[in-house]
Amino acid sequence: MDHFGYRQDHLFAEDVSLATIADNVGTPCYVYSRATLERHYRAFDEPFGEYPRHVCYAVKANGNLAVLQVLQRLGAGFDIVSGGELDRVLAAGGAAGDVVFSGVGKSIGEIEQALQAGVRSLSIESEAELERVDAIARTLGKKAPVAFRINPDVDPGTHPYIATGLRENKFGVPASDALRLYQRAVAMDSINITGIACHIGSQLTQLDPFCDALERVLDLVDILSDNGIVLQHLDLGGGVGICYADENPPTPAEYTQAMLKILRRRGCHLSVTLEPGRAIAGNAGILLTRVEYIKPGPAGDFLIVDAAMNDLLRPALYQAWHEVVAVSRGGTSPVRDCDIVGPVCESGDFIARGRRLAAVQGDLLAVRSAGAYGFVMSSNYNARPRPAEVMVDGAAYHVVRERETSASLSAQEKLLP
Ligand code: LLP
Repeated sequence: MDHFGYRQDHLFAEDVSLATIADNVGTPCYVYSRATLERHYRAFDEPFGEYPRHVCYAVKANGNLAVLQVLQRLGAGFDIVSGGELDRVLAAGGAAGDVVFSGVGKSIGEIEQALQAGVRSLSIESEAELERVDAIARTLGKKAPVAFRINPDVDPGTHPYIATGLRENKFGVPASDALRLYQRAVAMDSINITGIACHIGSQLTQLDPFCDALERVLDLVDILSDNGIVLQHLDLGGGVGICYADENPPTPAEYTQAMLKILRRRGCHLSVTLEPGRAIAGNAGILLTRVEYIKPGPAGDFLIVDAAMNDLLRPALYQAWHEVVAVSRGGTSPVRDCDIVGPVCESGDFIARGRRLAAVQGDLLAVRSAGAYGFVMSSNYNARPRPAEVMVDGAAYHVVRERETSASLSAQEKLLP
C-alpha cells in the first residue's frame, strides 16, 4: 500500500499533485512519499511485538539524507556497504551503534572508519577479511564486533544479478567453513563475536527460500552452541520483493511471521536484525518525467521522455518492468502502442517497452516503484545532470536534493596547465 493515487484523474503523492511538483521543480524528478516510507518501516517492525529486533534499513536502496532521517526518527537502524553510506547515516542523525556493515570488499580505511565510529557489527564475508579486521582492531586498541555472513547455498528464485545466496555467488562464507572460522575468530584477541548473518538475494517473491536459509543458519547456530560459541544476534538480511507488475510477494507481516514461527519452533531467542531496502523504499517513490517528442516506429510510437537510463538504470540493466502511468488521465490524448525511451545515445536506453498509453507531447508520466535502486544507481552519462529529489509530507513538499547543474558536474575536473 502506498500513498500515490488519482484524485479526479490527477495523480497525487499524498496531498500534493505531481503536476504541481513538475511545474515548480522541473523534470525528470524523483518524488518520495514520507507516509509510505513510514508505513513500510512499521510493517516490518510492528509484527515483532515484544520479540527483540532491529530493523536496519538497507541504505543502498535509497540513501537520500531525508529518507534516512525519516526512518531514523522512527527508530530504524541501518545496513551499510561503504564508508560513504556510514557518513550518510551519521549526517542524517543516525547513530553508529545502530549500523551493521555488510559487503565483500571493505577497504582498510572503511574498516578503520567503522571501528572508530563504533558500528554495531561488521558482517565478515571471508577469512582474509577476518584477518584484516583483527589486525586493524588491534592497532586501534579496539575489539571489533563481528558476525559471519553465511552463504547458505539457497536459490532465491530472482534475477541472477541480484541473487547472492548461491554457492557460486561472491557473497558470504560457505556453511561448511563456518565452525572453523568461528573457532579461529574466538581465538583472536581483537575480535568480539556477536552474531551470524545471511542475505540470499533481492526482489524475492516466495517465502520458501527465506525459510530454507533460516533453517540452515539455525542449524549452524546449534552447531556453534554445541561447541561453546554463543551468539547474540541473528541477521536475516533483506530481500523481500515488491509488486512492480503482477508479482505477489509476501507482505512484510507475512515474512516476519514466517521467520518468527521458525524461530519459536527451533527454540531460538536470539535478537533478530532485518535489512529491508526495496520493500521500504521501492513503492514509496516515483520518477516524474515529461514527453519531449513522439516519433512513429515500426511497431508503435517512441515516446521520447526527458528521463533516461542514467536516471533509472533498472530497465536497461535487469530488463526490469516499471509501471508507467499518465499523471493526468481522462483527457483526449490518443492511446498508443509505444516504447518509452530516453535521450541517451544507446538503444538500451529505455524506461519501458511494449506499453499502451494515452499521451501527447508535453504530457507528464510517472514511472512507478522507483523509490529503491533508482536515484542511487543514477549516473551522469551523456553529461546529464542527475534529477532533483522531492519528499512529499502530507500537503507539503520539500526538495531534498537539488537538480545537478553542468557546473556541478565538472566541479572536480581540471584542465591541463
Ligand atoms: N542486505 C544486504 C547484505 C544486501 O546485499 C542487500 C541488497 C540488502 C540487504 C537489501 O535488499 P532488499 O531488501 O533491497 O532486497 N540494484 C538491484 C538490487 C541490488 C540489491 C543488492 N543487495 C535492483 O535494482 O534490483
